[in-house]
Amino acid sequence: MSKLADIIDGKQIAQAVRQESKLLLAELKSNRGIIPGLTVVLVGDDPASAVYVRNKEKACQEAGISVTTHVLPSTVAETTLLNLLDQLNNDSSCHGILVQLPLPRHLDADKVIELINPMKDVDGLHPLNIGLLAKGTPRFVSATPAGIQQLLGRSGIDPAGKRVVILGRSNIVGKPLALLLMQKDKMANATVTVCHSATPSLESFTSQADILIAALGSANAVTGDMIKPGSVVIDVGINRVEDSTRPKGYRLVGDVDFESAQHIAKAITPVPGGVGPMTIAMLISNTYHAAILSVG
Ligand code: GUN
Repeated sequence: MSKLADIIDGKQIAQAVRQESKLLLAELKSNRGIIPGLTVVLVGDDPASAVYVRNKEKACQEAGISVTTHVLPSTVAETTLLNLLDQLNNDSSCHGILVQLPLPRHLDADKVIELINPMKDVDGLHPLNIGLLAKGTPRFVSATPAGIQQLLGRSGIDPAGKRVVILGRSNIVGKPLALLLMQKDKMANATVTVCHSATPSLESFTSQADILIAALGSANAVTGDMIKPGSVVIDVGINRVEDSTRPKGYRLVGDVDFESAQHIAKAITPVPGGVGPMTIAMLISNTYHAAILSVG
């Protein structure tokens, strides 16, 4: 029997990051009297988004951030949302703004994101923040890419000089992650390839990856035979698959077929308990930085 891959424990690493932020937030409060404020905007009643927002609220409050959530109906007029953002942009007690995605179809997410004050864009999705990351001077990096970099770094896996293959080119994960890991900086300096839905022969790329990052949103799409022996596999996917043995009738699986991949990889993130917990930890860290930036 081959040795199984080491598990990269996102829950434990996220807990460590959150504890560090909690100490920094306590210092900020006692030394400078600042309690960072995060405002979350949730539009509509998508159950998964509601759960994500609740988890973000709880974790941020636990760390010492003051969280305000605005829940708007799915039919909200675009001008109402834009007016709310305008008000938050000018509210000095609000240091960070997060508009939960996806938005209902009648709203233009790009337009909404562009209206957020880039100094309060703790999601790192504003074009100015993406641009700063692209030119190698990041201000806010979106939570999932930042969390993946921390997962690697804190597991003793330095991407420098490695072949990193990212599956997926989304604005929220694939693209910013590629920019982050190709930077000439610590815990970066990788040779990055981004594969997507128009990439022929995915396996010819995945099998070359020292670090394979799957963010394509397709359950169990990456199987053990596609990955390089001894590689590191980071699974960003969160997919529901039917499972009548579970109380909810489904279970969560990643984009990687864990069962087969764990026999080939050197290290792998589980789903759940891998990348997921890191995103919240990085939101806390970004909100702390937003508060620091606001006072210079
Ligand atoms: N929906 C899923 N992930 C995210 C995220 O990182 N930020 C926001 N705003 N919405 C999301």
